[in-house]
Amino acid sequence: MDNIVLCGFMGCGKSTVGKNLARKTGKKFIDMDSYIEKKAGMTVTEIFDKFGEKGFREMEYEACKELSEMKGLIIASGGGAFTFKRNVDAFKGRDIIVLLDVPIKTIKYRLRNDKSRPLLQKPDKDKVMQELYERRLPVYREAADVVVSGKNTPLGTAFSVIDAVSTLKK
Ligand code: S3P
Repeated sequence: MDNIVLCGFMGCGKSTVGKNLARKTGKKFIDMDSYIEKKAGMTVTEIFDKFGEKGFREMEYEACKELSEMKGLIIASGGGAFTFKRNVDAFKGRDIIVLLDVPIKTIKYRLRNDKSRPLLQKPDKDKVMQELYERRLPVYREAADVVVSGKNTPLGTAFSVIDAVSTLKK
């Protein structure tokens, strides 16, 4: 059983959609950030504080390698994971990579009060999000096997993912 790996920008709903998807498919849900946090024994924010983004990216790479070795999972990746070729390579061709496509306007609204994402704790948060989003979207598209709109409810989007994945398998 291939894994289904959800990718996309912070706040696109990878975790909430992933949980719904796991419920509907009977697969096990794993949130990549939680997996990293559990292994490290600290939060993503603490990892960034202690080891910098570079340290976090190394842990993320290890997580990608380990999770891609497992089977039958729904994986919610971190928003930066699929911007690195080595992480894409870990999953590509083995698992199904699904991009949840959500407009930047929606993302900005959802993340307006966010305190948990180190990359967004900046005074010019809107500009940072805009630039990161524009830079990352083409990279996500390149990595993904299929693109699904994430504008619907989490359950509705989960059904769209199931549809998209079944078409892919035909
Ligand atoms: C990041 C996204 C976060 C988390 C970390 C870095 C990114 O995950 O991995 O803060 O680079 O976009 P979510 O997409 O789950 O917020």
